[in-house]
Amino acid sequence: MEQNYDALRKEFPVLQRKTYLNSGSYCALANEVREAFDAYMEDRLLVGANWDVWVMKNESVRNLTASLLRALPDEIAVTASVSAGLNSLASALQFTGTRNKVVVSDFEFPTNAQIWHAQEPRGARVVHVPRAADGYIPAQAFENLIDEQTQLVAITHVCFRNGAKLDIPGIVRLARAKGAKVLLDCYQSVGSLDIDVKALDVDFAVGGMLKYLLGTAGIGFLYAKASCVQSLVPTNSGWFAQSNIGAMDITANRPSASARRFEAGTPPVVNCYAAEAGLKMLLKIGAAGIEKRNYALTRRCMQRLEEIGWPSITPREDERRGATVAVPSRDAARLAAELMKLDIVTSHRDDNVRASFHFYNNEDDVEAFVASMKALRGSFGPG
Ligand SMILES: Cc1ncc(COP(=O)(O)O)c(C=O)c1O
Repeated sequence: MEQNYDALRKEFPVLQRKTYLNSGSYCALANEVREAFDAYMEDRLLVGANWDVWVMKNESVRNLTASLLRALPDEIAVTASVSAGLNSLASALQFTGTRNKVVVSDFEFPTNAQIWHAQEPRGARVVHVPRAADGYIPAQAFENLIDEQTQLVAITHVCFRNGAKLDIPGIVRLARAKGAKVLLDCYQSVGSLDIDVKALDVDFAVGGMLKYLLGTAGIGFLYAKASCVQSLVPTNSGWFAQSNIGAMDITANRPSASARRFEAGTPPVVNCYAAEAGLKMLLKIGAAGIEKRNYALTRRCMQRLEEIGWPSITPREDERRGATVAVPSRDAARLAAELMKLDIVTSHRDDNVRASFHFYNNEDDVEAFVASMKALRGSFGPG
């Protein structure tokens, strides 16, 4: 069913005031999500502690995340952040044998490299796949670095710096050929692209709810393929990771049979309310339609930037990018600040301003952004 995106825009009040191109950093807040926060406050004010409902909210986030990723609920841990999920997973891996290598790319968000480097005292060897001369990383670049000693290939789906998408099927094939597992950091893609973890054939995936999932900070997920869960016992644990949370048994660690074993303490209750509302909204609209719209908007934005003589560095082909268009500048921080003065909300990383699109953006947003960039090109062009 074709969505009425104009009607949906009305659900995001900030869009009436700003050209909001910042979903790769933090999404626009929907009325429905705000109402979910309010519902939590009502609960607190009028009921006090409503644990039965709160536990159900946490389970609802698990179920909705599973539907979105085409996974099973038992394969999803609801975490406090991507970092929390990665730390829990890392604590369950052994690096003492010959398979002690972790391959990451130079496109990683820092946490998906730092946490693996933090395992070096435990025997991990972390290898970085560098960019090619054109600034991107083709699957072939992984070929020489993934070998029989590789335990894990931990890679981003879409790069937070430049919006480029890695060739995940190509990299998964290389990993499988050498018996290595694959972890996908899909924080910059989940909710903006249609993700099927089974079709991608990854073993693990991490993401969070504050960007394209329309929720809030302080809540994320770790997907762990069912066949991987049983053999992994995190030492980074807690009472909500136990098989029977209510047992209150202090004599042993009895991890849950499901991916819940990667959780830790009391769930982020208020964040569950917001995440549930965001995920429901997103699932109702449909990830496939959102992906199509985001490709159309980013394609249009890149075309228009070329027309004003200030091309982006993001790959042109749909299959090689996500929902972010990165534009190089001689002073990206000041350019983002100048755009903000014009009510255009972007972000900046390295030498690029990032315009990230979501289904609630439209062609008028593209035009407003491009017109402002044209006006600012003299002072902030790439130099
Ligand atoms: C690709 C990617 N991974 C990880 C993170 C950080 O996740 P967290 O703060 O939940 O640990 C971000 C945040 O911007 C990100 O873009």
